[in-house]
Amino acid sequence: TRKLANGRQSPTSPLKLFGQAKKKINDIFVEISSYVTESGEFLEASNKPESDLLSADDADKVKQFFDKVNGIREILTRDRMKVAFFGRTSNGKSTVINAMLKSKILPSGIGHTTNCFVQVEGTDNSDAYILVEGSTAPRNVQDIRQLANALSSVKLDSDSLVTICWPKEKCSLLRDDVVFVDSPGIDVSPNLDHWIDKHCLDADVFVLVVNAESTLMQTEKNFFHRVSAKLSKPNVFILNNRWDCSASEPEMMEEVKMQHLERTIQFLVEELNVVDRFQAEDRVFFVSAREALICRAQADTRTPTPNSNLLEGFQGRLFEFANFERKFEECISKSAVQTKFAQHTSNGKEIITQVKSVMENLYSTANNKREQRHQFFSETQDQLDYTEKQMRLLSEDIKEKIKLMVEEVDRKVSTALVE
Ligand code: GTP
Ligand code: MG
Repeated sequence: TRKLANGRQSPTSPLKLFGQAKKKINDIFVEISSYVTESGEFLEASNKPESDLLSADDADKVKQFFDKVNGIREILTRDRMKVAFFGRTSNGKSTVINAMLKSKILPSGIGHTTNCFVQVEGTDNSDAYILVEGSTAPRNVQDIRQLANALSSVKLDSDSLVTICWPKEKCSLLRDDVVFVDSPGIDVSPNLDHWIDKHCLDADVFVLVVNAESTLMQTEKNFFHRVSAKLSKPNVFILNNRWDCSASEPEMMEEVKMQHLERTIQFLVEELNVVDRFQAEDRVFFVSAREALICRAQADTRTPTPNSNLLEGFQGRLFEFANFERKFEECISKSAVQTKFAQHTSNGKEIITQVKSVMENLYSTANNKREQRHQFFSETQDQLDYTEKQMRLLSEDIKEKIKLMVEEVDRKVSTALVE
């Protein structure tokens, strides 16, 4: 099975893909960083003003790369997978997140509960705390009631953000770098475009939580049309939540399910045009977040699940919830690796290529200079050789002439003597 007995995720969880890719790309950037540093030091050492080997442009370039690489490494440590939940008030958005986190972290309840954006992310601390937008002081929270009080004690606009930092040790999804964003009901706020700009542009996956007791609403559709206009092909999952309520009307269940399935698949495939019909089947699920949360929260405290809270057929719905999570994990890790790391990879390549070209410039300038000097020496050498040869020829010549002169004189002397 995928889950180990202690509740930790096994190494085969699709989310590990993100962690592995992050580690690998981080290692690569450590290497790029040392390459850029070494190149920078080498260039600085060779860049003596009198040697005139490096242009000012090239020297500057490498210094800038050093900052750029550090910037990317900094972003890398903050890169996480982000999932945002939307839907009408009371459809169960907060309950779905709690079920995935396996504990009742976010306040939920009847009526309009979540009144601003709430982000849940992991912290290495052993205590939870919250950060409120616009204030730097973290507030400690021990339990859900305190959290609800803390949230309601601050008057915030619907688009402002409260961040709950929850101990990673308590939750495997947070350990694996998933960040959850809960939102107020989309029927409550008029400023949806602002919401999208502020909270959605960097989300890897969107989950639309629909009320299976009614149907997909026009407000919900409109919101996703706007998301889709700003982001090309967003990853959208649709949860038909509160499916436990259908258990009380078993004779209608299949028919209602087919109706919802048809409507939601048609929305994803034909209206939003984000998946094809085949893929859409892995994007629509019928679940009960309430039951999933009850079972999981109790599995943690090891008290037996009170079956009275669970309705007929709950195992099937729990299975469907786990199935949703599996598909969600596959989708979010793949998408986050592509969107976040592809950019870093091409930046890394660009930096290496440019540093290489600066180094090559330096090498070929130095080579040219050596060549010139060599040529100068070899020309001088040739001249010396020529002169030497001339001298030799000349001296041979002189020797010959002297010899002839001597012979001549000799001959003249002997003839004079004879006369
Ligand atoms: P707002 O924050 O107000 O927008 O609502 P929400 O979408 O976050 O809904 P919330 O999770 O607060 O749930 C609303 C109520 O519905 C709570 O009382 C939940 O216990 C209940 N609820 C959530 N999911 C289910 C479900 O699957 N089945 C049933 N029966 N009740 C559910
Ligand atoms: Mg809520």
